[in-house]
Amino acid sequence: MKLKNIAFAAALVAATSAAQAQGAKLKVGLMLPATGTFAALGTAIENGFKLYVAEQGGKLGGREIEFVKVDDESDPAKATDNVNKLIKRDNVDVLVGTVHSGVAMAMAKVAKDTGTLLFVPNAGADAVTGPMCAPNIFRSSFSNWQPGYAMGEVMAKKGHKNVVTITWKYAAGDESVKGFKEAFEKAGGKVVKELSLPFPNVEFQALLTEIAATKPDAVYTFFAGGGAVKFVKDYAAAGLKKNIPLYGAGFLTDGTLEAQGADADGLLTTLHYADSLNTPRDNSFRLAYAKTYKLQPDVYAVQGYDAAQMLGIGLTAVKGDVSKKAEFADAVRKAKIDSPRGAFSVSKAHNPVQDIYLRR
Ligand code: BEZ
Repeated sequence: MKLKNIAFAAALVAATSAAQAQGAKLKVGLMLPATGTFAALGTAIENGFKLYVAEQGGKLGGREIEFVKVDDESDPAKATDNVNKLIKRDNVDVLVGTVHSGVAMAMAKVAKDTGTLLFVPNAGADAVTGPMCAPNIFRSSFSNWQPGYAMGEVMAKKGHKNVVTITWKYAAGDESVKGFKEAFEKAGGKVVKELSLPFPNVEFQALLTEIAATKPDAVYTFFAGGGAVKFVKDYAAAGLKKNIPLYGAGFLTDGTLEAQGADADGLLTTLHYADSLNTPRDNSFRLAYAKTYKLQPDVYAVQGYDAAQMLGIGLTAVKGDVSKKAEFADAVRKAKIDSPRGAFSVSKAHNPVQDIYLRR
């Protein structure tokens, strides 16, 4: 009889705390870059995420959203400490981050070990939705392979035969080039030289001299943020743009066009978003974003917005109770996400299955 009473009391406590948890605010830990070459990307992701939450009246799945932030500095060496701060010190319910693939892999490892929900709103590291995939990890962006592979097909169709690649030496650059090379060489092209420099260096001069000396038919590149601005400007200033066409994954020009000015004119890039889709969904998103932030949105803003949409879909299915992990994941897996980029779903490993656009 006594045992029964204890069991009843324990069940009552568990039910009460679950109910309290559902009524309580949901703590979202934003781990994004606020400094360094990817700072603007982090801001756009945060803006996009918060825009969707605001459109839902500040609540997702019936729970008011509260934010805690950490500047990850795009530094993989600090990533594990930073993510542990959010989980252990701040007790976040959900993690959102980040931009840099190396930092995201450290986040994914901790998320996997602790079972914390993680939404990756940019970093394309193939492993996050490959060998490291987990029921509690979701990506609202892309895998590094996707835009690279698409551009391999495009450049082969343009008739280019010998291509030089240039990128930062880390997971995103390596995987983007790998995706490009896979499609380009399958179609009969040859990557004659793979150039790289450490992230986030922007001393491109020696490598540009090497490109000029190699005289390839074209160049494929992955750079993003501040580094992409400088690369496009340096490429034009070195006199290469006229003779050796430059192509890239769309991060080369997304969110950076204004700073690149005429030096970016005519560049062809591949990406899962473009600013001229002219669909009712994208137009209303762009208008709302511009009104709220007095800024034009870019791919990073869309990915942040969609991360919040995915979180909302999961939370609605479990009525705000994040402990129901299997039901949460099932709902996101079954969903068609109504993205400004065009509707998309996620694969079994929780990576977007989506169209890639060719943009000029
Ligand atoms: C990455 O590290 O995965 C990444 C960074 C910026 C733009 C795209 C990808």
